[in-house]
Amino acid sequence: PTIHLADYRPSDHLIDRVDLDIRLDPHASRVTALLALRPNPQGKVGAPLVLDGDELKLVSLAMDGEVLLENAYTASPSGLTIHRPPQRPFTLAIETEIDPTANTKLMGLYRSSGVYCTQCEADGFRRITYFLDRPDILSIYTTRIEASREEAPVLLGNGNPVGSGDVPGTDRHYAIWQDPHPKPAYLFAIVGGRLGSVTGRFTTSEGREVALGVYVEPGKEARADYALDAVIRSMKWDEEGFGRAYDLDVFNVVAVSDFNMGAMENKGLNIFNDKYVLASPETATDADYANIEAIIAHEYFHNWSGNRVTCRDWFQLCLKEGLTVFRDQEFSSDMRSRAVHRISEVRTLRARQFPEDAGPLAHPVRPKQYAEINNFYTATVYEKGAEIVRMLKTLIGEDAFRKGMDRYFADNDGTAATVEDFLAAFATETGRDLSHFAQWYERPGTPRIAVTGTYDAAAKTYRLDFRQTRPGAGADAPPLVIPVALGLVGEDGPLAARSERVQDGVFVLDKAEDSVTFESVASRPVPSLFRDFSAPVRVEINQSDAERLTLLRHDTDAFNRWESAQRVALRIIIAAARGGSETLDGAEGFADALAAFLDQEAVNDPAFAALMLALPSEGEVASEIGANIDPDAIFAARRRLREAIALRLRDPLIVLRERLAEPAGAPFSPDAASAGRRAFRNAALDLIAVADPDRGTVLAREQIAASGTMTDRLAGLATLSQIPGDAREAELAAFAERYAGEPLILDKWLAIQAAIPEDGTIARIRQLQQHPAFSITNPNRVRSLVGVFSLSNPTQFNRADGAGYALVAETVLALDKRNPQVAARLLTAFGSWRQMEPRRRAAAEETLRGIVAVGGLSRDVADIAGRSLAS
Ligand code: ARG
Ligand code: ZN
Repeated sequence: PTIHLADYRPSDHLIDRVDLDIRLDPHASRVTALLALRPNPQGKVGAPLVLDGDELKLVSLAMDGEVLLENAYTASPSGLTIHRPPQRPFTLAIETEIDPTANTKLMGLYRSSGVYCTQCEADGFRRITYFLDRPDILSIYTTRIEASREEAPVLLGNGNPVGSGDVPGTDRHYAIWQDPHPKPAYLFAIVGGRLGSVTGRFTTSEGREVALGVYVEPGKEARADYALDAVIRSMKWDEEGFGRAYDLDVFNVVAVSDFNMGAMENKGLNIFNDKYVLASPETATDADYANIEAIIAHEYFHNWSGNRVTCRDWFQLCLKEGLTVFRDQEFSSDMRSRAVHRISEVRTLRARQFPEDAGPLAHPVRPKQYAEINNFYTATVYEKGAEIVRMLKTLIGEDAFRKGMDRYFADNDGTAATVEDFLAAFATETGRDLSHFAQWYERPGTPRIAVTGTYDAAAKTYRLDFRQTRPGAGADAPPLVIPVALGLVGEDGPLAARSERVQDGVFVLDKAEDSVTFESVASRPVPSLFRDFSAPVRVEINQSDAERLTLLRHDTDAFNRWESAQRVALRIIIAAARGGSETLDGAEGFADALAAFLDQEAVNDPAFAALMLALPSEGEVASEIGANIDPDAIFAARRRLREAIALRLRDPLIVLRERLAEPAGAPFSPDAASAGRRAFRNAALDLIAVADPDRGTVLAREQIAASGTMTDRLAGLATLSQIPGDAREAELAAFAERYAGEPLILDKWLAIQAAIPEDGTIARIRQLQQHPAFSITNPNRVRSLVGVFSLSNPTQFNRADGAGYALVAETVLALDKRNPQVAARLLTAFGSWRQMEPRRRAAAEETLRGIVAVGGLSRDVADIAGRSLAS
């Protein structure tokens, strides 16, 4: 059944209080929920009470303390209806029994490596007890958790701990947790198990003493320090940047090894995929450290943007997710290099969101309908949602943005809000009408902005003409409000750019066509457009390589310096892929420009230089081409440009790699500066190996043997993985042996192999599926092997013979029976199938039709397959 935003209506009943008693048991956990209900003044009078359930077994039911007659209700695993509930406040006591060990969907209450844990967003609470499982039902929860002391010495819940003790005459104990803040059921959580922890303290700006804990598998405590540190930095940053202080006496983070997504912001008890908590120099890469910092911050920031102010319904998901991604991006930018971070945000957006927005799974940032909400935790809702918040800030300015945020929190605290409520806070604060801007939430598709520049040498004016369109949008579709941060650059450096249409460097394009004219422009300029990626759009402008390389040299905007180099590379690769010629028109000039750049700047900003060395991915090239894609041609063209660059840069890179080496014996630090040096050295290594595979092999093996950091060892292995031969196989085998028993590290080993762009990779993956390091029951393993294959190995996933599609489809079907959410996510890899050349398109379509033809698919997989095929 499809659910529509337009059908929203308030619940007929409210639940003010929830008292839970959860007796944990591996196969027969008992849950008693005492619900304090009342009719909703905003609801229908006399409506039946319809509670959600999912695979539940009802044990007993009482109303106001009396057992209910059987004809007063209807119960099934998927719901409980009380036909004639009282027209006054009343209580229901509902007892259910659940089997956490058999819960392979990892939604609701389940066990991960023996640890009891929960995941309730979006609709997992109904797998624990019958409930009004919708985010606009806010209740005060008290939770008693009871378990065998042996099995679960640690018992954690939402809110503050208020009591604990032994259950007399048994081997069991209990803990009671009270959460004073009203919350929707999706923020409920408990954890019970044998866990180690690291603890800390934080005193909030309001003077509250908060006890912090990060809980991990016993023995891994030393790997939890960085996460704890990130919690403390997040708390401080949210106070300083947004005026948001924490509001409970404890804040706990728990790492579990079986988890469907990254992490979850349950009130006071964030539960994480252990991949985003555990880190040590020996075991984690710089990318892992950066992810941990960002995701710890993300979940913590949800305490205000998500928990204190939650969503009225799931269509408003971007209200918390887009905003919280924006907040975590700002945090990471403050912790690291802002320009480098912005570039990585844009790379993610282009790699994931642009293709989504251009294919059959495209949807507005606020969708209008869904069949399965878990399929809408997408790059569009998260990443494009964050870009909308960023554009709002650009449009109204930093001060107004902060005031609007304060007002949003103040006006909506303790409520379930909508996108309209969010925008209203800024409209009220600034006196602006934001209704036109709001269209960003409603319109799918990446806007295209065509720009032409005209210089009038006599009048010394320069005019930019803009035209916006959106693929698939009808002629009557309104144009969007697009902030264009821009400037002019001349042969020798930035030019003053005066125009009354430009304020604080921003021109606002809110019509289908518009133009801006600059006065007193001494010579023909090169426009620098969408500085810092000021809007999530594609820009079409006729710029020569020479003009772009002028921007690379002289632009004041670091993002556009990088962007202009990327544009040159894209142009060269696309021309070569289309022409199939052996020549690479423009490659020499490009390589020279890179050489000059490195010479001047690599030592000062190695992180930025590393990004400069990375060519646009094959996926990005494909997404630029947009139709009739031949991944082999793209691969070959990109490879040729890489070779040309590598040959030109080899000698300087060898020198720079030495110059930027860590001094011998220097202690490891995950900070941005050292990570930047490692990133540069490893980008250099990769190119050196392209230019000279023998030398690359020697250097990579040296690095694997000598390095003390996982970043460098893994980079050595990744470089080697691109060079077929005995050395590669020997190092892969040695790595597996060295890290046997370290699943998170072996995930990286699986991922490297899944991405090898060679014909033998499918056979290799099929073998790895039998390796002890792999397990179809663990989402991280599946994503590392099959997920990485589908997303990061375009030539093999999109093999013309369909073998890549078949491999992924098989995994999807095998997984669907256990864990539909992860299966459906894997299937989204087919999202760009219509853009393939005819043979691959036919193979992909056949595979998708084959999936649909299988009976008994989950709603999750049926939804993705169905939408992927719909035209
Ligand atoms: N709210 C979580 C986060 O972004 C993610 C929950 C994802 N849930 C899901 N059903 N896919 O922080
Ligand atoms: Zn989130």
